Amino acid sequence: MNKAKRRAVIAGNWKMNKTRPEAKALIEEIIPLVKDADCGVVVCVPYTNLETALEAVKGTNIGVGAENCHWEKSGAFTAEISAGMLAEMGVEYVIIGHSERRQYFAESDVTVNRRVRAALDEGLKVILCVGETLEQREHGITERVCAIQTKAALEGVTAKELASIIIAYEPVWAIGTGKTATSEQANEVNHYIRTVIADLYGEEAAEGTTIQYGGSMNAKNAEELLDQVDVDGGLIGGASLKAPDFAAIVKAASRT
Ligand code: 13P
Repeated sequence: MNKAKRRAVIAGNWKMNKTRPEAKALIEEIIPLVKDADCGVVVCVPYTNLETALEAVKGTNIGVGAENCHWEKSGAFTAEISAGMLAEMGVEYVIIGHSERRQYFAESDVTVNRRVRAALDEGLKVILCVGETLEQREHGITERVCAIQTKAALEGVTAKELASIIIAYEPVWAIGTGKTATSEQANEVNHYIRTVIADLYGEEAAEGTTIQYGGSMNAKNAEELLDQVDVDGGLIGGASLKAPDFAAIVKAASRT
């Protein structure tokens, strides 16, 4: 595998955090700290912060993402936001299939696939999350779970469209727990997911696909995780809410 063929992307997933003034302040603090980044830098923010974030990042190297989108274009779906609504605003990325959506909001592989389809149809770039629970890991079915989630999400996605997809391997047991996967564990599953992509789209497409790791990545452990040959950046929760920590992770990704 040739890491030089793909671009590392560090994306913050703010989850349900930050009011608009807080969002503006955090992005303004991040901007100078990441301006020389040699990797993609993205902040995925709550819907209410999208306009503020888009305004704040103008003229910078930071991209803005949403944390979900609905699959229908419009209609009677109270509280939902369509991919087209995001695209019209100038939003570039959207996280789909986060484990918190799967766990708490009944997100299924089928709805993940529908959301992916809708996002691609609107020209959005997708950060697709896959990952096993602790129970699944203990049962030895990590690879099977990640393969099923990846294949189901990519159903009907063409090889050309794959270029707009970033995969984030996020073991559920490592999210917000302070329990990071070891760099070997992260690399092993990321590598396995790449073989799944190779089966679907061929070796070259697999080598070009950005596969992030997410789950308690922070300023201290980022370098070791990002040094792994199959770890192409990170999806960062808690540490993305602190500008110096987020910037340190961006710096670690820029040197690998
Ligand atoms: P933490 O970095 O807080 O563990 O969250 C990871 C995550 O869920 C990113 O999407």
